[in-house]
Amino acid sequence: MKLLEGKSAIVTGSGRGIGRAIARLFAEHGARVVVNDLEGDIAEGVAAEIGEAGGSAVACVGSVTAPEFPEKVVRTAVEEFGRLDILVNNAGYTWDGVIQNVTDEMWQAMIDVHLTAPFRIIRAAAPYMREPAKAELAEGRRIHRKIINVSSTSGVAGNPGQVNYSAGKMGIVGVTKTLAKEWGRFSINVNAVAYGFIETRLTAAKEEHNRARVGEIEVELGIPEQMRQMAMRMIPLGRAGTPEEAAGPVLFLASPLSDYVTGHVLLVTGGSYV
Ligand SMILES: NC(=O)c1ccc[n+]([C@@H]2O[C@H](COP(=O)([O-])OP(=O)(O)OC[C@H]3O[C@@H](n4cnc5c(N)ncnc54)[C@H](O)[C@@H]3O)[C@@H](O)[C@H]2O)c1
Repeated sequence: MKLLEGKSAIVTGSGRGIGRAIARLFAEHGARVVVNDLEGDIAEGVAAEIGEAGGSAVACVGSVTAPEFPEKVVRTAVEEFGRLDILVNNAGYTWDGVIQNVTDEMWQAMIDVHLTAPFRIIRAAAPYMREPAKAELAEGRRIHRKIINVSSTSGVAGNPGQVNYSAGKMGIVGVTKTLAKEWGRFSINVNAVAYGFIETRLTAAKEEHNRARVGEIEVELGIPEQMRQMAMRMIPLGRAGTPEEAAGPVLFLASPLSDYVTGHVLLVTGGSYV
């Protein structure tokens, strides 16, 4: 059964990792997808992959933190697909340090990407999500639209070395719960997923030296291998999740299966933090 037939979705940061798995799963379920990433080649690549698999996708390249980006990505969905039903705020990265080593720049970068950008994108989407809903409700039709914000166990329980990331990821939970209350009457469901340990570039061994570019700067990503092994032993399911396993709960929150779920933070952690 295809769960998103006829829907139009934006997935930020979907050039790799969890976002890519979400974009591909949405497309498999019939959604037309705006694939966004900071890195143009990988965004175009995912859109092409989806097209080759018989789905429909378009790339929208750019940083979610750019002031003009929110209007641009929303316009892309509306111009290409005629509507906007689903928004997934997924783009992000980590810039870790214990508080005494966290500079203002490190702090601000995490707040910008994990909190301010989703806020601005949701605000830009408002006319395309609320106005059609008003018209539909006036005609006695209830059509659900969905916003899913990506948080983290750092945004639920805190995590040493991530004061900046944790603040952004907890902030987005506040946005989620508040908007669920503001927009419930328009049948717009607003939920969050909080991931634990999902195998992506973000959580790969530090020894692999993966880096993310932030403007002029490159940030080192990853977790020391010894800590990765320790973290995995603490997970009740005994392993990290795959990007595909991370995408499944987002499909649920984007689909009609969750029409009566809003303001919720769904832990996708293999049993940790429950
Ligand atoms: N992997 C995990 O274990 C884990 C745990 C908790 C939360 N998360 C969250 O899940 C989301 C996806 O992370 P991932 O693990 O797939 O990482 P990833 O590095 O594999 O993929 C993230 C993608 O987002 C893009 N991106 C980063 N900043 C961007 C920006 N400013 N504008 C547009 N695109 C940008 C990157 O280029 C990258 O392609 C992030 O919000 C992350 O914080 C991941």
